[in-house]
Amino acid sequence: MKIIVTETYRELSIKAASLIAEEIKRCKNLVLGLATGSTPEGMYAELVNFYRAGNINFSGVVTFNLDEYVSLEPGHPQSYHYFMRRHLFDHVNLAPENVNIPSGCAADLESECHAYDAKIEQAGGIGLQVLGIGANGHIGFNEPDSSLKVHTHCVNLTEETVAANSRFFETPDQVPRRAVTMGVGSIMKAAKIILLASGSGKADAIRQTTKGVVTTSVPASILQVHRDVTLIVDREAAAQRCLL
Ligand code: PGA
Repeated sequence: MKIIVTETYRELSIKAASLIAEEIKRCKNLVLGLATGSTPEGMYAELVNFYRAGNINFSGVVTFNLDEYVSLEPGHPQSYHYFMRRHLFDHVNLAPENVNIPSGCAADLESECHAYDAKIEQAGGIGLQVLGIGANGHIGFNEPDSSLKVHTHCVNLTEETVAANSRFFETPDQVPRRAVTMGVGSIMKAAKIILLASGSGKADAIRQTTKGVVTTSVPASILQVHRDVTLIVDREAAAQRCLL
């Protein structure tokens, strides 16, 4: 696991965007796994800057997002479909047919999950996956539990995650309790992974992700056994990290 510690959130965002840009230059048909949440917002802003400056071309890129809330329509301002349009898709030359986000509104969510994994396989698997991390160590919405699911699936969100997400909703009862997420197997199959973490609220999760123990109670800890993971963390998130 490679760990890059940055002084600031801006530096973290530029570093992450630069790694993606390099990968797209190397492979113009890159299959890119994307994450939502506050952490990657700066990275998306930098990718849009790179695009406007003519330094990145998304025309051959295929994207797969990690997750979506169950029951939020794509037009809902807190849906991850909406987030991705607002922060990236509306501003760059990604072909709409190359963009994939699981639906949280499919009539048959189980079939939707199977179809999503099949589509990733058909695309040749994910070349580079971007991840955030929850304060509880979740990746995607793979929550701490006694076991972890391999494939894309529906999940009940933990109270901690619901509380963390509530900052985006007007009232607590509007916060979704369920989500569709790629499983840890879908994530671990990616050829390369970048995990981003910013702020002291993530320091303990980063410590547990780097301390040499894999446990389902910290889902991100499984990344220690992946052969190509880069952690990009700011100084605050890195404060308690363990050096492997
Ligand atoms: P955040 O979420 O970037 O909004 O902190 C990350 C996550 O929960 O994966």
